Amino acid sequence: MRNWPDRRILDLFGIELPIIQAPMTTVVTPDMVAAVAAAGGLGSLPLTMLSPHQAQEALGAIRRRTSAPINVNFLCHVPVVDPARERAWRRRLAPYYVELGLDPEMQLPLAPIPPFGSTQCELLEELKPEIVSFHRGLPSEKLLDRVKTTGAKILSSATTVKEALWLEERGCAAVIAQGSEAGGHRGTFLPGDVSTQTGIAALVPQIADAVKVPVIAAGGIADARGIAAAFALGASAVQMGTAYLFCPEASVPPVYRQALKSAREDQTAITNVFTGLPARVIVTRIVRELAPFAAEIPPPSHFRQQPWRRCALNRSRPVRRISCLCGAGRPHISAGSLKPGN
Ligand SMILES: Cc1cc2nc3c(=O)[nH]c(=O)nc-3n(C[C@H](O)[C@H](O)[C@H](O)COP(=O)(O)O)c2cc1C
Repeated sequence: MRNWPDRRILDLFGIELPIIQAPMTTVVTPDMVAAVAAAGGLGSLPLTMLSPHQAQEALGAIRRRTSAPINVNFLCHVPVVDPARERAWRRRLAPYYVELGLDPEMQLPLAPIPPFGSTQCELLEELKPEIVSFHRGLPSEKLLDRVKTTGAKILSSATTVKEALWLEERGCAAVIAQGSEAGGHRGTFLPGDVSTQTGIAALVPQIADAVKVPVIAAGGIADARGIAAAFALGASAVQMGTAYLFCPEASVPPVYRQALKSAREDQTAITNVFTGLPARVIVTRIVRELAPFAAEIPPPSHFRQQPWRRCALNRSRPVRRISCLCGAGRPHISAGSLKPGN
């Protein structure tokens, strides 16, 4: 990579290849991060759903295998509880409960999504990762200052030019331009209309022209053509997620793997029906029937563990009701690398 025309991200992070493996909550394993780092890219470990002890173990396992720089990632959100909308949403889902012989009033286990707070700051002060990325904005100024004091370089996703400028102003070392092709949740954090957001061909050059920090392109990039195009558009690196779902190191349940294997180019869409936040997923029956955008879905404060999720994840049946995050670049990823049993 000595002759690579844009070395800004390589020099900023001290990596050899301008490829960032996207942090993907519940899917990325320490093995994946270590393998990417050892190959010269930037491995990203999502920490939001891990306890401090689990995070220490995971990072320790990576550090034993590589001394290369590592990115750790957190989702930024303010938990909101809205019982009226919870009830309305349950009424909307009632036919699915009845269909499965379940009581629509049954109590559901809640898996809270811990917000980024003092505990996470203490963890970063102890673990000292080289890079910390956030999704859906940044933590409060006070918390962000503590993260900066650890010496970590800070990143976050922008889905509009306005968001990119906002992130740059608050000290991000680089901005991830997340195009609408991207798999997973939109990084959107400023008010706006998701339907007006663009793909990377429009977004990357607009952000690259607006900010001084380097830009990382994310969304639908799944092979060398996409990487070359991202550089032509003004990016200094790419962040790829969906392509890594096909690696043996990914922790992808069998039903999800099956859905990924067979997803065609017209079978992903942006919807809010799983978490209340817009995300690109494989279009399954529940997405077709419920919206894609449902007004009554409650604000995100926890993952709603709908009763069919556990059943579906334990069996190899076609997915109908669960969320399978997936980018629009899926069809040009070779499904041959999906190994059974992973
Ligand atoms: C399964 C999945 C989970 C994701 N989880 C996260 C996450 O926890 N944190 C984050 O910053 N981005 C997350 N993303 C978004 C990625 O950072 C990135 O924007 C996206 O994968 C790029 O698009 P692509 O999937 O088409 O390559 C996720 C994406 C996928 C596909």
